[in-house]
Amino acid sequence: MSVVELTYHSHACFSFEVNGTQLLIDPFLTGNDLADVKAGEVESDYILVSHGHADHVGDTVEIAKRTGAMAISNFEIHNWLLAQGVERAHPMHIGGGHDFPFGRVKLTIAHHGSALPDGSYGGNPAGFLLTLKGKKIYHACDTGLFYDMKLIGEEGLDVAILPIGDNFTMGPDDALRAVKLLEPKIVIPIHYDTFDVISQDPYAFATRVDAETSAQCVVLKPGETYRL
Ligand code: NI
Ligand code: MN
Repeated sequence: MSVVELTYHSHACFSFEVNGTQLLIDPFLTGNDLADVKAGEVESDYILVSHGHADHVGDTVEIAKRTGAMAISNFEIHNWLLAQGVERAHPMHIGGGHDFPFGRVKLTIAHHGSALPDGSYGGNPAGFLLTLKGKKIYHACDTGLFYDMKLIGEEGLDVAILPIGDNFTMGPDDALRAVKLLEPKIVIPIHYDTFDVISQDPYAFATRVDAETSAQCVVLKPGETYRL
């Protein structure tokens, strides 16, 4: 009954399906050799954009125009998307939550940058804390380790989606420390192997998570779905 389906599309991109509603997160598909879907065919009712970098904004404008999906992002990216011709967008900011028809979205801090592809100011980068059918899912997006993950963990996480690529975000060592602060039931590693500089072995990370924390690590290949 209460199933939320999390389908990984590589890098930071997921489709979350809730009661037939498709949430697309950070749709970097065009120019991403690992992606299992194309921008011209992916389904979307809402598109969540964590920060302004091209590997996260990705195909948001094209997909929103084709599908009529509503974009959800910080205020600055919201303004930029509207200027690109996206018709439906909902502005939020860090620390704020909002109840949408599919569930609740709260923006969290992330230690990173957020310049948009054309150099426009993209505000501060964010992560997402989603409450979907009573399940709490934290998608950290691009960030370094921060101690306030402890506060996010206090919400009681079913799933934590964490970058492990290193170089631009946390690497495996800090992602393991993040798991200990967040204390989720399930960990899904992301943001690796898309570029040479972020090559990682997600199975080695999974072995450490399973051995050194109380969480279970689930490695998803692009196109694979985890149901909770
Ligand atoms: Ni980034
Ligand atoms: Mn990135």
